[in-house]
Amino acid sequence: MLSVIYVSVADPRLTPPDIAAMVERAQANNARDGLTGALIYNGQNFMQLLEGPVARVEACLARIRGDLRHNGMIEIRRRLVEERDFAEFSMLYSPLFRDHDADLSRLAARGALDPQDAQLMANFLALGRPGGAG
Ligand SMILES: Cc1cc2nc3c(=O)[nH]c(=O)nc-3n(C[C@H](O)[C@H](O)[C@H](O)COP(=O)(O)O)c2cc1C
Repeated sequence: MLSVIYVSVADPRLTPPDIAAMVERAQANNARDGLTGALIYNGQNFMQLLEGPVARVEACLARIRGDLRHNGMIEIRRRLVEERDFAEFSMLYSPLFRDHDADLSRLAARGALDPQDAQLMANFLALGRPGGAG
């Protein structure tokens, strides 16, 4: 299986209902396609981890790359895996994180997170907090 993490820049005009609709559709598609993962939105950027059969992940990434609701998509980690991080989640979605530590622990508790994946998400979440990482 393939696991990919990317970050992108959200369209600033996106509203909470827009995001909710997008997440709902993505969850249904991913369940259909045998894909799992997590999406984090910090109000400006998305970080998504997408995992599953190689061809299915690539096809989904190609669709996501062409989606006008975001741009500037950059892959930050790509690897072949034996185990999924988010086996039980078609797309675990977390909107604006307020409490970084508690939320990340919740994510970690729900999925058997690879340590480096967990670190990437922790850093992304920290940057999205008011006041930044400090
Ligand atoms: C940040 C972001 C993440 C997305 N993640 C997924 C995803 O995991 N799975 C998916 O099917 N579509 C995802 N999409 C939506 C796709 O870009 C595309 O709109 C959708 O797959 C088309 O599905 P449809 O043919 O059912 O309308 C995402 C879009 C954005 C902006």
